[in-house]
Amino acid sequence: MTTDAISLVIFGASGDLTRRKLVPALFSLYCKGMLPERTNIVGYARRPWDHEVFRGILREGMQEFAPRQFDEPGWERFSQQIHYVRGNLNEIDGYRSLKSFLDQVEKGPANRLYYLSTAPGFFPVIVDFLGQFDMAQEGDAWRHVVIEKPFGSDLKSAQKLNEQIQAVFSEHQVYRIDHYLGKETVQNILTFRFANTIFEPLWNRNFVDHVQITAAESVDVGHRAGYYDQAGVLRDMFQNHLLQLVSLTAMEPPASFNAKNLRDEKVKILDAVSEIKLEDSVLAQYRGYTEKEGVAPGSRTPTFVALKLFIDNWRWQGVPFYVRSGKAMPLKNTEITLVFKEVPHLMFADNSDPTPNRLSLCIQPDEGMHLQFETKKPGAGMRSKPVDMEFHYETKFGGVELPDAYERLLLDAINGDASLFTRSDGIERAWQIVDHLTATWEGPDAPPLATYEPGSWGPPEADELLVHSNRSWMVGCGPH
Ligand code: BG6
Repeated sequence: MTTDAISLVIFGASGDLTRRKLVPALFSLYCKGMLPERTNIVGYARRPWDHEVFRGILREGMQEFAPRQFDEPGWERFSQQIHYVRGNLNEIDGYRSLKSFLDQVEKGPANRLYYLSTAPGFFPVIVDFLGQFDMAQEGDAWRHVVIEKPFGSDLKSAQKLNEQIQAVFSEHQVYRIDHYLGKETVQNILTFRFANTIFEPLWNRNFVDHVQITAAESVDVGHRAGYYDQAGVLRDMFQNHLLQLVSLTAMEPPASFNAKNLRDEKVKILDAVSEIKLEDSVLAQYRGYTEKEGVAPGSRTPTFVALKLFIDNWRWQGVPFYVRSGKAMPLKNTEITLVFKEVPHLMFADNSDPTPNRLSLCIQPDEGMHLQFETKKPGAGMRSKPVDMEFHYETKFGGVELPDAYERLLLDAINGDASLFTRSDGIERAWQIVDHLTATWEGPDAPPLATYEPGSWGPPEADELLVHSNRSWMVGCGPH
């Protein structure tokens, strides 16, 4: 490719994501000098705005959602590169205007990143129009397309969407976003595992008793009931974010850090996840959910999932992965905890019940690591007590603010690095896992949805999943 000029075209630019995440991320990249000098950001949406109105709305968004980053002179310069083209997503005239505007503003060959931040029903429509107008073809410049979630709603729709996209773009041009992969702490799973020698020898069935992955949210469904009631926790969180965390935790070391090797290894894990049994899963809804505006009366949409899954491969044979996520829980907390096996023989007569070691990778909000191990209580005898060795990003990196996930992902999509994006086979395999679970829960043997109180850790059934094996859910990174 011969140019470094770039146009970033945001479809659905009047939506929340643009103000809240995309533009703050782009502004931050701009301030760090990471965007090419000749950058144009072009918002495309239906609202009757012009460039100035659009800039004004984005400026307010910056002040509201990224006030610490906002700086007046910087914004003045940056915002001159922002433009707005008015058009409908499903009308050819809009795309005609967009194409001629891009040709006019680019003044020569320019790379293009198309960001699809619209309702998912428009993804194939937009891609099709881009194809019709020859806007996907690469020559002197590249063309990349970033696709927001949800990518399909089941295996069949995801396959169809993949086909529709691949009819216009080649796989190397497609960036399916999962913002969890843009989080520093999620990427750090790879550094932690594969840039240290001390943990990896323990990272398998010989030493790990079980793994727990929690993605708890204190917010309820909020104003998103219209979308959420169709999706539920399995499609909203499990199919994407949680299965990504499972893959990164369980995968084999790739030979090198590149998109192919990394994604090959992650897909192998998804391939090895065995079918989740009904008795190994709990779906629940928080009390009061159906009274929310936008929720269908009598809705059976789960807002909480807890399950036990197994990865059928050599490394993880017989090691349960307990995974849970829910809305309206006591706190926001995402973490991965490896609980190690008990010591094979305990020689201390007055210490009959030491706590198994555990290692927690804290994704958010308190980003860091906790390693818990037994230590001798001072004084007579040999009694012990579990203590924590901790690492917190905040203290170790001198208060450096961790970049937002979108910043990293946008930069990677611009630089053509798809490592942190999901490949078509990965998406489809994840849907297969979800589809099986959904079908099980629609079968004749499925129990009714469990109920839990808002602000609790889910229904008692979720605890029972572990109790049989004498285990319990834990919050390793939260307050002790
Ligand atoms: C989104 C889901 O993908 O992830 C939301 O649609 C959820 O329902 C959000 O709240 C959680 O993301 P984070 O980064 O706040 O953990």
